[in-house]
Amino acid sequence: MTTPLVIDTDTAQDDCVALLVGLLDPDADLRAITMVAGNVGFDKQLRNAFLTLSVAGRLGEVPIHPGCRRPLVRPWVSAENVHGDGSGGLSMDDADLEPEREHAVDALIRLAAENPGELSIVAIGPLTNIAMAAVKDPDFVRNVGTLYVMGGSNNGRGNISAAGEFNFYVDPEAAKAVFASGFEVTVVPWDPLTLRQAVFDQERLDTIAAIGTPLSDFFGRVCAATLEFDRRVGIDGTTHPDSLAASLLLHPELVRRSGRYHVDVETAGELTRGYAAMSWGVHGLEANATVIEEIDADGFFDHLVGVLSRRTVPSRRITGL
Ligand code: BDR
Ligand code: CA
Repeated sequence: MTTPLVIDTDTAQDDCVALLVGLLDPDADLRAITMVAGNVGFDKQLRNAFLTLSVAGRLGEVPIHPGCRRPLVRPWVSAENVHGDGSGGLSMDDADLEPEREHAVDALIRLAAENPGELSIVAIGPLTNIAMAAVKDPDFVRNVGTLYVMGGSNNGRGNISAAGEFNFYVDPEAAKAVFASGFEVTVVPWDPLTLRQAVFDQERLDTIAAIGTPLSDFFGRVCAATLEFDRRVGIDGTTHPDSLAASLLLHPELVRRSGRYHVDVETAGELTRGYAAMSWGVHGLEANATVIEEIDADGFFDHLVGVLSRRTVPSRRITGL
C-alpha cells in the first residue's frame, strides 16, 4: 500500500531530493507539492520544483500550489548564502509552466478533508502554510493523518544561529502555533539527527556520482553550493534533513530510536529566536510530539542511492545537466 502525502517545501537543495523521494519511491503517492517562503526567492522555489518534477520525468503529473510568500509576523529571511539558487545553476525552458491557482493553504485543507485521517504531510520548510491551514479550518488538525516536521534541534545546535534551526527561526510564531494545535507531530530535528547521522561525506558523494543517472547528476549539482558552505562551517559533507524526513515517513523501519517530548518554540528570546524547547518528560508537561533520536544511517543512504539509481527520462531538456 502506498502512502498518500503532500510535501510542503521551500524548494532548494535537499528539498529537491525530498521531492525526488516523494515522486519516485514506490511506497509514495505524492498528491501535491505546496510552496512556502523560505530558502530562496519564492518564484525561484517554484521553478526549482518544476525542474525537479522534470528530472524525475513527472512534469505535469503532480500539482504545485503556491502558498504563503512571507512568515506570519516577521520579514522573510532566506538562505541563499547556504544553497545558492538551490538548483546548482540548472535551468529549463519553463516560461509556459504555471503553478495551480488554488492557494497551498486551501489545497492542504481540501486534500486532508477528502480522506480524513489518511493524508500525511511532510513539512520541510517554515511552518507558515501549516499554521495558516490550522487557523483557517478548525477540522484541519483532525483531518491530517500524520505530520512530519523537519525543524528545530533536540537540545543541540542551531544552524542559522547558535540556538535557531532555519525552518523554526524563519517563522517561529508558525512553529509555535503548530505545536500548540493538537497535531500528532513527528519531528526530524537538525541536531543530532541531520547533523550527526545524515551527512554524506566525500566517499558517499563519490558513490552517488558514480551512479551516473540524470538523477545522480542532478543530486550532485543541487548539493554543490551547500557542500561548500558546510565545509566552511566545519561539517564534513552534504546535509539531508528534508529527504530524511520524507524517507522516515515512508520507511519507519529506518528509525532506531525516538522519544515522546513536549515541544515548544521560542518567539520572544533575544538570542534564541526559533529555539525548540524539547522537554523529555520530566518537567510536568504533556507530550505533543515524537522526536526521532537515532536512525539507521546506512539504511537511509542506501535508500537515497536506490531512488537516485532510477533511470528517469527528464520531461524537458535541462540546461547544465
Ligand atoms: C532546513 O533549512 C533549510 O535550509 C533546509 O531546506 C532545511 O529544510 C534545515 O535547517
Ligand atoms: Ca527545506
